[in-house]
Amino acid sequence: MSVSLEEKFVRQFVSQHEIDYMSGAAESALSAVKNKSGAGSDFLGWVDLPEEYDREEFARIKLAAEKIGNMCDVLVVIGIGGSYLGARAVIEYVKSNNYNALKKKTPDIYFAGNSISAAALSDLLSICEGRDVCVNVVSKSGTTTEPAIAFRVFRELLEKKYGIDGARERIFATTDKARGTLKSFADKMGYETFVVPDDVGGRYSVLTAVGLLPIAAAGIDIDALMNGAAEARNHYLNAPYAENDCLKYAALRNILYRRGKGTEILVSYEPSAQMLSEWWKQLFGESEGKDGKGIYPSSVVFSTDLHSLGQFIQDGSRNLFETVIDIKNSGASVKVPHDPADTDGLNFIAGCELDEINHTAMLGTLLAHTDGGVPNIIIETPDKSEKSLGELIYFFELSCAVSGYISGVNPFNQPGVEGYKKNMFALLGKPGYAEAGDALRERIGKL
Ligand code: PA5
Repeated sequence: MSVSLEEKFVRQFVSQHEIDYMSGAAESALSAVKNKSGAGSDFLGWVDLPEEYDREEFARIKLAAEKIGNMCDVLVVIGIGGSYLGARAVIEYVKSNNYNALKKKTPDIYFAGNSISAAALSDLLSICEGRDVCVNVVSKSGTTTEPAIAFRVFRELLEKKYGIDGARERIFATTDKARGTLKSFADKMGYETFVVPDDVGGRYSVLTAVGLLPIAAAGIDIDALMNGAAEARNHYLNAPYAENDCLKYAALRNILYRRGKGTEILVSYEPSAQMLSEWWKQLFGESEGKDGKGIYPSSVVFSTDLHSLGQFIQDGSRNLFETVIDIKNSGASVKVPHDPADTDGLNFIAGCELDEINHTAMLGTLLAHTDGGVPNIIIETPDKSEKSLGELIYFFELSCAVSGYISGVNPFNQPGVEGYKKNMFALLGKPGYAEAGDALRERIGKL
């Protein structure tokens, strides 16, 4: 595998017998994933997806991406949570966190419907003024409030600008196969639709049309992405514990959690990986944080955040561990220029590649943080290519499922997400919720 786990900065914090002890739990969690015998097994469609995806739909995704590229300056992807994080993560990781500002032949891609912010939506509407716009609305349920609001706004914009027939050509809906509000509406309006498989939950859906359509529209090679995931699947589903880094990662996290390390910080040294960390946070947070348990997932980008959170990580509460994504080759070459006057004293690194200096900063930080009592797991990946990223995505998805089973939760549900929705609907007076709204208002009044 091109993705691999380096244990040398965590070894001093765990003992060999703990690692050995975890082998049984990790292997039986993996069997539960493979045999579909664990909790939430109706949502294991992502396990075989890299091999068993719908080839006909995959070809349609490529055609739709081409059509979007020919028709639009801007693609607005409307979705929240698992319905946008994966696409945004892959686009920024492979292309750039400044993707929209790059000179390119593919459309700008903006994400909407992931908040209820009037300011954010109105900024995006101004960005779209005078430009040709396509919309990809993504919602498995079709009833999620945030994307539903944004879709109403953008549908109105497109229908005013292009007429109902013109808008039809520019709206692509990714939703559940047969049921649901968005599916019936899309069919009625004649939008092209793509499927979120019933057995794939939002946070595991990046390698379905949910992620693949916007990713392909950005000009990213989705075949290579799937190939990387398929290679990871073949290896991690079959390799024994001793040779299986995916199981090792799940095991190490659980060992550290049992030793009181309740916060995991995903560290990267590339700003383009920031959204990958957001995707990872949802994946692990929503999968494991339940039943009063779970590791709190957080993230930083170094060396940027060494100048903000570095102090805390080095020296604050000792309930942390870090997982570092070590990208060996950023794909860019910038050297420190030589300055004859050497006024800033940097000539000792003149001529050095920034990748090399960044890597040295990583080594220095690993030593400092482990000296400060923070265990560090390292996940090495050779580059930011589609294939390596496909591997990494599958690595995290499978390790998350295994880790959830080791800690005894259902990694595929999210009952806690409903809490705020019920209250919000009640306070907004949604039919069927109004009485509860009165009670909530009274409660707030008494606070
Ligand atoms: O991972 C999940 O299940 C959630 O984050 C959902 O993706 C998110 O709530 C959006 O749901 P939907 O796609 O039904 O609009």
